Amino acid sequence: MINLGVLCSGRGTDLQSIIDAIKNKQLKANISVVLTDKPDVMALKRAEKAGIKNVCVNRKNFTNQADFEAALLKELKAAEVDLVILAGFMRILSPNFVHEYKNRIMNIHPSLLPSFPGAHAHRDVLNYGVKISGCTVHFVDEGTDSGPIILQACVEVKDDDTEDTLAERVLEQEHFIYPRAIQLYIEGRLKIVGRKVFIN
Ligand code: GAR
Repeated sequence: MINLGVLCSGRGTDLQSIIDAIKNKQLKANISVVLTDKPDVMALKRAEKAGIKNVCVNRKNFTNQADFEAALLKELKAAEVDLVILAGFMRILSPNFVHEYKNRIMNIHPSLLPSFPGAHAHRDVLNYGVKISGCTVHFVDEGTDSGPIILQACVEVKDDDTEDTLAERVLEQEHFIYPRAIQLYIEGRLKIVGRKVFIN
């Protein structure tokens, strides 16, 4: 069984969708550790409730990014993680970290990449005035939200949407596609060729 290490920064609803998919046997994986960069976040409580090892690697306790990432890597190795899952993890990982798990880090982003990368996707979507948004699961490369795309789902943007109402509808789709993308990986059905991912 493949071991997942899930990294979160906050509420952890994406984490919850993975926990639920494992419980429902839609996802044949084991979460061996949940890591957060902040203390007292809901994601830790969700992991605790599900009986999953959870550790806060508090970014504030580190003076530099390299030491912080070394601490994350130590936890991931200790938990024998095969695939790293970024689930609302609001930090950019250095190329060093990415190389440690080359093609074995997935992220979910709340827009149709390559449009609206970065930390404020919903705000940027609403300001720009696009009619369709959505979410993207992709492999993580050295850039920001730039790696090969695995799955995407669309959501209509409504005239009266706020960041919160849009986020809520996009999250529904996130919770649908993220466990599926992970299961495709587990089944060995994802082939990365250049910046494309082919699904067999
Ligand atoms: C999700 O919408 C996820 O796509 C986004 O943070 C939210 C986490 O929600 N991630 C990013 O913006 C990464 N750049 P959650 O804490 O409820 O899972």
